[in-house]
Order: sequence, then C-alpha cells, then structure tokens
Amino acid sequence: MAQARDQWTTRTGFILAAVGSAIGLGNIWRYPYVVYDNGGGAFLLPYFFALLTAGIPILLLEYSLGHKYRGSGPLSFRRLSKKWEWLGWWQSLIAFLISGYYMVILGWALSYTYYSFGTQWGSETQTFFLEKYLGAADFGSFTPQLKVLIPVVLLWAFVYYVMRQQAHRGIEKLARILMPLLVIMLVIITIRGVTLPGAAEGLNTLFTPDFTALADPQVWVAAYGQVFFSLSVGFATMITYASYLNKKEDLANSGLVAAFANSGFEFMAAIGIFGALGFLAAQSGVGVDEVVNQGVILAFVIFPQIINELPFLNSFFGVTFFGALVFAGLTSIVSLLEPAISAIRDKTGAARTTVVNWIVGLAALMSVLYATDGGLNYLDTIDHYLNSYGLLIAATLMAVATAWTTRKVGELQSHINQVSDVHIGKWWVICVSVVTPVMLIIMTGLNIRTEWL
Ligand code: PHE
Repeated sequence: MAQARDQWTTRTGFILAAVGSAIGLGNIWRYPYVVYDNGGGAFLLPYFFALLTAGIPILLLEYSLGHKYRGSGPLSFRRLSKKWEWLGWWQSLIAFLISGYYMVILGWALSYTYYSFGTQWGSETQTFFLEKYLGAADFGSFTPQLKVLIPVVLLWAFVYYVMRQQAHRGIEKLARILMPLLVIMLVIITIRGVTLPGAAEGLNTLFTPDFTALADPQVWVAAYGQVFFSLSVGFATMITYASYLNKKEDLANSGLVAAFANSGFEFMAAIGIFGALGFLAAQSGVGVDEVVNQGVILAFVIFPQIINELPFLNSFFGVTFFGALVFAGLTSIVSLLEPAISAIRDKTGAARTTVVNWIVGLAALMSVLYATDGGLNYLDTIDHYLNSYGLLIAATLMAVATAWTTRKVGELQSHINQVSDVHIGKWWVICVSVVTPVMLIIMTGLNIRTEWL
C-alpha cells in the first residue's frame, strides 16, 4: 500500500500532460463538425456558456478533488465520502471503454500517415487509402483482416511502453515532446487551409449563424458534450492528474491555461479544416454543404480528397494532417487509461507494471474487436451513449456528490484558493452546485424524451 504516488516534475509538466489529454481527436475532427451541425456561428453561444459555467468550473472541481484528497477517482471520492467511491469507478470505467475505440481511429490515422509518404497522389486517392488499409472501397464493407490490426498493435505496444513508466517519465515526457510538435503542425494545417482558393466560402459555411438552433435542446446537449469531452472532464482523468501534482502548486491558473489552450486549438483547427473544405467544394464545383461530413468520414474520406487536390506538397500535408491526429490522440489515450490504472493501484497497492499489463492488455483486446468486426458500426452508437448519458450523468453526480450530499464545495473552494494565485469566487460555487447540475438534468431529460419517448 505504501508506495509513493507518481508525481509530475514541475507544474509545467502537469499543464502539458493536462493539455495533452484535452487536445485530441475531439479537437481536430469532432469540434469543426459539431459547430457546423449545431447552428454554425450561433453554436458559439451555447459553447461558451457551457465552457464558462460548466467546463472550467468542473475542471477546477476535478483538480481540487484530486489535489486535496491525493487519490485517483475512486480514492478521492472515497475520501470525500465513502458513499461516493463508486462514482470514481464509473468514471474510470467509461474512460477505459472509450480507449478501445479511440485507438482504432488512431490506427487508421497511423496507416494513412504511412501511406501518405509514398502515395502517388492521383485522382483515386480516396479509394486508394481505403483499399490499402481496409481492402474495401468504403468503411462499411470491409472484412476482418490482419493488416487492419498492424497499426493498432504497433500503437498499443508504444502506449504500453509509455504507461509502464511512472507518470513523469512516461505521460509527461510524451506530452513534452509531442505537444510542441503538434502546435507547429496545427499552424501549418491552418495556414494552408485558409490560404487555399475557396477557403472564404468554407469559413462562411462554418460560421454563418443559424439562431433558430438555439431553441433546440439537442444543440445545448451537443455543446456540453463537446466541452466535457474536449476538456477531458467527467472521466476522472483530471482528478487523477491533479493527484500527481505537488501539494503546493497552483490550480486555478493551470486550469484556465489548459482550458483556453484547448479551446484555442479547436478553434484554429475548425478554421483550417473548413478553409480546406471550401477549397474542395470549389474544386468540385459543389456547395460546401455537400462536402462537409462527420468525424470518421471527414478525416478518412474527405481529407484525402482535399490533400489530393492540393497544388503542391501533397505528401507533406498528408503526413502533417494524419500525423497530427496520431500525436494529438496519443497524449489523450494515455489519459483515458491512467484513471483506471491509478484507481486499481490505489485500491490494491499493486505495482504499476502489473496493473498496466492488465489494463493495457484488456484495452488492446477490446480495440482488436472494434478494428475487425465491422466495429465502426458500433462506434458511433457507443460513442453517442457514453457521451450523452454516461458522461453527462457522471458530471451531474459529481456536482451532487460535492455540493449537495456532502456539502464540501466550500472546502474545495478554499483548497483551490489556498494554493492558487488567481482566487475563485462565489460564482464557482454557484456554477458547480446549481447552474451545471440543473442544466445537465434538464438536458438529459429532454434528450431522453426526444430519443426514447
Ligand atoms: N479530450 C480528448 C479529446 O478531445 C478525449 C478525452 C476525453 C481524453 C476524456 C481523456 C479523457 O479527444
């Protein structure tokens, strides 16, 4: 039991790991489409509302739980109150389940990166990739085969290697290397995107506000879902990461830095991607609406077409785009696994390596199933349920646990203020204990009504 807790080397190390977790597939392929699909420019209103009243407050709540109680999800909740330990397990479980399909997407991205290097970019690019990777011309119709597994297995081997080391040697080092590279790649993608002919039309399509969307509860659900997923809150990740932070380090400031870095990143990604979509539409002589699509198709069918149409450096931009997906995803996937690893270690006192063997082994097995058995068909459904129910309910219960049943938000607020430069006021308590749970309960209710009744 008495093993020392993992610890980040510095506060910067913690922030980098936290930003690494936040910036992931959610920022690059989820956000642009979510904005487009939920009212365009008008979506920014619910988005910022959710970010400021729920995303950042709950992020700080998680930081304060992990930092004050110095435990993984279950241990921190247990120290808050024995009754709530299960919530930490629930959150860690959701994160673990997501890691299974998250990795499959990274596997696709890795093989697309690989094929981008040598591709003779020609008119059949889109099919080229799918046939190379899946042996089929579309995502729906591939049969299980070995080559689909190769990138997934390679990535798992790498993640295994990272996770075996203590957090500061594994996760932190990974983020220190990959995050700066990722920012450079994003800048390249965005500049290329907005300087293409037709880009303006893409941006118009993205941002033209449809204010009627604001009356639709689904749009608000989407905003909360996006903010939570993108910031990595509600999964015990940030509780776990904060528990590795030195006792005296600042929390409030770190939280704000992480949140704005994350939003800035997705905003830039959306601009670059829609610029590029505008270009593709112009090249194909169709409206931008006709080329926009959701995550998987956007990244793996539409983007190859865009890269193919580029006037020069196709391979370079292909490698940059798909490589960015891989890098962004790697620093996130480690943070989907760490909550479960840390929770089991806290509970059993087992050595890190033993727990990592099991958790990474099981997660890898899970993703093999996804990668082979037409897993894409389940992916959307599972993603939907985990995010709209699992996650929103977990976040609501977190507020209920801290603010209503144990009434410890006040203590947590003082804890944050003791260690932080920026002091957080009453607004935080109000957001955590009233605004966020009330909004989440209403939205989950409306969501259930539209989907089930
Ligand atoms: N925030 C990550 C993304 O945007 C996903 C993630 C969620 C990672 C929760 C860890 C925990 O892709």
